[in-house]
Amino acid sequence: MENGSKEYVLGSSDMEIARLAFQHEVWSDVTGGLWRTAGISYGDSVADLGCGPGFASLELARLVGPEGQVASVDASERFVSLVSSRITSLGLQNVTVSKGDVTALTLESGTFDFVFSRWLYCFLRDPVTAAREAHRILKPGGKLIVMDYLNYLASRIFPGSDVLNSIFPAYLKTVNEHYGSYNIGGELPSMLSEIGFEIVSLEPIVRIARPGENTWRWVELFNELSVPALVENGIWTEDQREQFESEWEAAKENPGTFFFSPPMIGVVAERS
Ligand SMILES: C[S@@+](CC[C@H](N)C(=O)[O-])C[C@H]1O[C@@H](n2cnc3c(N)ncnc32)[C@H](O)[C@@H]1O
Repeated sequence: MENGSKEYVLGSSDMEIARLAFQHEVWSDVTGGLWRTAGISYGDSVADLGCGPGFASLELARLVGPEGQVASVDASERFVSLVSSRITSLGLQNVTVSKGDVTALTLESGTFDFVFSRWLYCFLRDPVTAAREAHRILKPGGKLIVMDYLNYLASRIFPGSDVLNSIFPAYLKTVNEHYGSYNIGGELPSMLSEIGFEIVSLEPIVRIARPGENTWRWVELFNELSVPALVENGIWTEDQREQFESEWEAAKENPGTFFFSPPMIGVVAERS
């Protein structure tokens, strides 16, 4: 990846692709709400930056219809080729995808009605340059829509234990080591204002989920992918992992257990 960023911390394995697909389903109502707040509709042009395997891009393509246009960009070769084969197999004429760095886009200036980025800014070493690029490719009056993490350490398992809740600082450390931040949402509104955006709306995004519910499964899938990596990267020992996994299984048997999701923010900002 260019610009000194390390490889996307969660990789592009089959497991990560399946996790991103499920994640898209779990949060698609919130995502759709942000699109409605911003006003994306038939005939619009939208750039989906950091599109991953393109689950949102394909939904956006349906939303803007054949007279609209979606341009998707991601740094991962594997994700881009997946999106590309989906475009071909679905016969879509209104989506293009390209491999690229969101801090150095090849897309033309002043061409998009909307730029959408979900769970991208938290992984960027240089979010300011990425936001400047989004500003550059938007038409005057066009809108940037960002959905991202805001205050990661506010997430907890209740009633929980020190072992269960030590997972959140461990994940925060991992992303920080990759130059990202799961607290980026708190910085975005002032960063965007300084770049020349006018903030249109800021929405809190948070959920409570009990074992068996989709949002619980969402964090569980994240754990299945990321806990082994914590051990591989020396952040946790094998003993810590075993203790965590056994407490996690026990917590699921308690009818009072719930997960308070990492608070996120939905930002809609207009290019002035
Ligand atoms: C958590 S995934 C989110 C994917 C998608 N936006 C979604 O909501 O399903 C983060 C994505 O950001 C991409 N990414 C990270 N840094 C990037 C960069 N500098 N330029 C382009 N893509 C980047 C990764 O390759 C990965 O696909």
